[in-house]
Amino acid sequence: MKELAYHILDIANNSVRGQADTITIIVNEDMINNQLMMSIYDNGTGIKEKILKTIKDPFTTSRTMRKVGLGIPFLNDTCLMCNGGLDINSIIGEGTNVKAWMEYDHIDRPPLGNMSSTMTTLITSEDNIDIIYKHIVNNEEFELSTSELKEILGEVPLSQVEVVLWIKDYINDNLKELKNRL
Ligand SMILES: Nc1ncnc2c1ncn2[C@@H]1O[C@H](COP(=O)(O)OP(=O)(O)O)[C@@H](O)[C@H]1O
Ligand SMILES: [Mg+2]
Repeated sequence: MKELAYHILDIANNSVRGQADTITIIVNEDMINNQLMMSIYDNGTGIKEKILKTIKDPFTTSRTMRKVGLGIPFLNDTCLMCNGGLDINSIIGEGTNVKAWMEYDHIDRPPLGNMSSTMTTLITSEDNIDIIYKHIVNNEEFELSTSELKEILGEVPLSQVEVVLWIKDYINDNLKELKNRL
């Protein structure tokens, strides 16, 4: 995939299918240690051991409509190509953590892409799932939590146009500020 943001959306969709009610997404751009790390946590069903054992193999999937699962193997390939790796920790009944990392300045590393669009897509399509998004650049960070937003908004749905635009701006402004501090 051309952008890491698509991978994030794809991995978060596994969490949605795994019946999570909270998904935490952490992006860490650590230029000091030349590493980009993405971590997605959920409190869903967890991954059965049989699937977990071969999850980096594209023929591993619990889907019945198509016989290849591509999300994790695809991201794993990208990480390996960029001198990084991918780790999955999953406990049945508790949840899953997918952690992917790559060399920040590796020539083949895809750009992060449009995080504000990706996050609003996820948030508005799954507005019964709490999403926490934390983005770190070196030692500075910001966080967005939909459960906190929902408390402030009361009856107003997250999918309302003004809210979606606000979330986009909030993410874009914060990312810009983090980068400005470099
Ligand atoms: N967060 C998760 N919670 C529960 N099951 C998961 C999770 N992530 C992956 N899985 C399991 O691993 C399989 C492989 O995932 P993936 O590589 O993304 O392919 P696909 O989603 O196309 O099946 C899924 O079919 C699912 O059974
Ligand atoms: Mg998938």
